[in-house]
Amino acid sequence: MAGAVSAGGDGWSSRTAFVLAAIGSAVGLGNLVRFPAEAGANGGGAFVIFYIFCVLLIGLPILLSETVIGRHGQASAVESMKKVAIESRASTWWSLTAGVGMCGALLVLAYYSVLAGWIVHYIGVFAGDFFSAVGAGAPARGALHGYSVDEVQAILPALHANSTEMIVMHAIFMVLTIIAVGRGVSSGIEKVAVWLMPTFFFLLIGITIYGAFTGSFGAALSFLFDFEPARLLDPAVQLSALGQALFSLSLGSALMITYGAYAARDINLAKTSVQIATADTSVAIIAGLAIFPITFSVLAPASLNAILDGQEQVQGGLGLLFVNLPVAFQTMPAGSLIGLLFFIMVFFAALTSAVALLEASVSWAIGRFKQPRWLVTLLLGGLAFLIGAWASFSFNSLADFHPFDFMIFSGQPVFGILDELTAKILLPTSALLMSIFVGWIADRRLIESENGLDGNLHRVWLFLVRWLCPLVITAILLTGLFPGILEQG
Ligand code: PHE
Repeated sequence: MAGAVSAGGDGWSSRTAFVLAAIGSAVGLGNLVRFPAEAGANGGGAFVIFYIFCVLLIGLPILLSETVIGRHGQASAVESMKKVAIESRASTWWSLTAGVGMCGALLVLAYYSVLAGWIVHYIGVFAGDFFSAVGAGAPARGALHGYSVDEVQAILPALHANSTEMIVMHAIFMVLTIIAVGRGVSSGIEKVAVWLMPTFFFLLIGITIYGAFTGSFGAALSFLFDFEPARLLDPAVQLSALGQALFSLSLGSALMITYGAYAARDINLAKTSVQIATADTSVAIIAGLAIFPITFSVLAPASLNAILDGQEQVQGGLGLLFVNLPVAFQTMPAGSLIGLLFFIMVFFAALTSAVALLEASVSWAIGRFKQPRWLVTLLLGGLAFLIGAWASFSFNSLADFHPFDFMIFSGQPVFGILDELTAKILLPTSALLMSIFVGWIADRRLIESENGLDGNLHRVWLFLVRWLCPLVITAILLTGLFPGILEQG
């Protein structure tokens, strides 16, 4: 076995397992729900181009930095950072960077699981529909037979109005996550990734090909890649793209440090980081090329043109997946089956990410409190469940409760605040501190011996981590959070 031995004596059983688990953590609701929703809300092309820029020049260098720290530390994220800080004769306070990320990950898990609960609900709706289609001898018919368009559009609001059901679905998803994490790294987390990720890729490619043939593929291409250059300079678009890139690559959340700690010494971390970032970014773009052609196919030509001209926004946000897509599946050949497969695919991606979100704090708590993995997993998963359950009332009784009515939080209920706070503040801050630590504070030889780079590539990486990442993240954070700065300047 090539596995590394972590604090708990457990680790990945092979390089493939590490790569699949890391990709499994990166590919999730971020790619399938958040990316299309953010691209839609921020005008498509400009967002996508800036996003790709952020992945290449900021995400990738930080991804390598985090896995380097983890593998050197061979312990939880906080402990690994502490160890590297001590070996570099720096203050152990730097480990707080990982602490911030770890708290961020637990908060993401709280609302992530609520959202994943909606996916479980939709799997139920589509499974019922598909089996009744099979019973009626018409397995290839459109989805949600017998529903009017209004009724399809009412599925999500009806779920939102039913807080008991929302919480039960959230609980089901959280229990599955707890079981996978509770079983440990090689027999739980790794198994989930090794089984689910290949199936996920197979389904994604199939559904994209289906969308290309049956939907408005050309319109989706121009929506995702045409842009007005002026929008590239819009601080709100930049902050959304940066936040999305970090969120999607699971950065600034202590996770890649944690997973890096379970990686064997002979794994080339630079190569692995490139593979993870490429897979994650391809999935986001491919998911856009699956979701937009299908949803655009039912729009009237006038509204589609208005969207492509930038006159109108793609309506929906989260509704894109939960409202527009089911409406489209209704009119599409074999929509019933494809709809069911689509939501199963999203569920697989969500589970491998939720497992990662929980493991980030579980690995720390096991070492800190010397308690069994099961107990720690249950307690931390339970805590995230409670926060998520509270946030789920944002869709009904607490919809008008806006505890922080300022800045990017204005008008947001708890659910939205958790999302904005983590993706646009906590993860970028943790990623910023990480790049300063690796670029300026950590012992140079220690980093060089771990990162798998030599010659010019190493110099380029060091330049990005030392200069570009801290400067760009700081600038984007400031202008995105305080747009007034630009007007006064
Ligand atoms: N990257 C995951 C997604 O895109 C979310 C995530 C963030 C997972 C941070 C782990 C850590 O859905």
